[in-house]
Amino acid sequence: MTEPLQPLSPATLTLDDKSYTLPTYAGIEGEKAIDISKLRTQTGYITLDEGYGNTGACESAITYIDGEKGILRYRGYAIEELAEKSRFVEVAHLLLHGELPTTEQFLKFSTRLNESSIIHEDMHHFFNGFPRGSHPMGILATMVASLSTFYPIPDELDSATEIQIVANLVSQVRTIAAFSYKKSIGEPLIYPSYKLKYTRNFLNMMFASPVRDYELDEDIVRAIDMFFILHADHEQNCSTSSVRTAGSSMANVYAVASAGICALWGPRHGGANQQVIQMLEEIHAGGGDGTAFINQAKDKNSPSRLMGFGHRVYKNFDPRAMVLKKQCDKLLNKAGVSDPLFDIARRLEEIALQDDYFISRKLYPNVDFYSGLILRAAGIPTNMFTVLFAIGRMPGWLAHWREMLHGKQVTITRPRQIYVGKTLRHYQDIDQRS
Ligand code: SDX
Repeated sequence: MTEPLQPLSPATLTLDDKSYTLPTYAGIEGEKAIDISKLRTQTGYITLDEGYGNTGACESAITYIDGEKGILRYRGYAIEELAEKSRFVEVAHLLLHGELPTTEQFLKFSTRLNESSIIHEDMHHFFNGFPRGSHPMGILATMVASLSTFYPIPDELDSATEIQIVANLVSQVRTIAAFSYKKSIGEPLIYPSYKLKYTRNFLNMMFASPVRDYELDEDIVRAIDMFFILHADHEQNCSTSSVRTAGSSMANVYAVASAGICALWGPRHGGANQQVIQMLEEIHAGGGDGTAFINQAKDKNSPSRLMGFGHRVYKNFDPRAMVLKKQCDKLLNKAGVSDPLFDIARRLEEIALQDDYFISRKLYPNVDFYSGLILRAAGIPTNMFTVLFAIGRMPGWLAHWREMLHGKQVTITRPRQIYVGKTLRHYQDIDQRS
């Protein structure tokens, strides 16, 4: 159920001594927009907005963010409440179907996920083909795209098939991730078990072995499940926009999900969680408290950035970082371990939040700043951090894909540009060229 855009008084634009009126609207949370969909035909002008920081790509009813107030809600529910009271499978249902499930709906959805957790046996050969030390995000992107070869998608996708495919992806991304880890350490694959729920199943596939039982630590299960909840969606971020763009060409959903995984991999996006740990390890190895690193991050001539800091939308705190920091504290205190990297992270945050460079640029810890410390405390290897981000984000990506597919109309994404290259010139034979 979506709320229609509220029309506001039209905007007037004067160009080349001519006036144009452009419709304006407000969304349910008061966000205002100028509709420029007819700008080029009316005026011959296009807009220029590198990185689309000022451009709304679509109307969406899935997630709402207020970057100034540090608000994040999935289908109207505050992230803090979902992180505390809900579970990842329930949040996945909320994102995909718009409502928290009833008991009966939850059982049906959870069973569907369990029953589709296994992947085609022939896919195992692919794992053997990857070179040792392959980054698991490369494996994940490849294997998810290859699902379209094992489970071909019919041209006409009826609702039941679509819902099954979405469940397959939410479930199998977890199996593929665990299998790629096991392959990378040369251990036998541990198959998903129908007896275990989503996150327990994942941790069991990651850490159990035929020769030793794996004792599920409830605090770690809870921390990883909360990690998945906090990463489940974030409106039109880079990878979700890639999913919508790939989906707008009517590419199959496995290719679309793989596009999301590839975009997420970048160190400025989902790859940041792995970079944060590497940054903290570098500072720890150097024996410093991070001050020198912060000075480097502020230096325009240095490529260093304070990883896990800053956000395109949050110009105040990232609510997810606050939840993760608390969870981190709890996990480390419970284990009775003090992680020097956590101490360095807290020190970095303290220094940065008193430094005018970060304050004036509104750079605060984002979701990636503390998330890696939780994964590290849970024994997840660093190169799997972004893979876990992808597992969490899968329901969000698929919710956006479905929303686009069933929207008013599926318009192929095709932005314009301002050309600044060579004007017309004619071909010269090679012996004529200087
Ligand atoms: C995610 O969009 C989403 O919703 C993403 C995400 C999601 O859930 O999907 O929230 C997940 O991707 C979180 C972000 C993870 N990335 C990082 O932690 C990498 C480090 N952060 C930066 O690369 C950066 O802050 C971005 C990419 C996150 C945001 O970049 P912006 O908003 O485009 O900022 P910018 O590049 O325009 O920088 C503005 C200024 C610049 O300085 P000046 O040119 O004004 O002098 O701030 C500086 C930048 O140099 N700056 C930083 C910095 N981030 C920005 N300086 C040092 N360290 C940083 N981390």
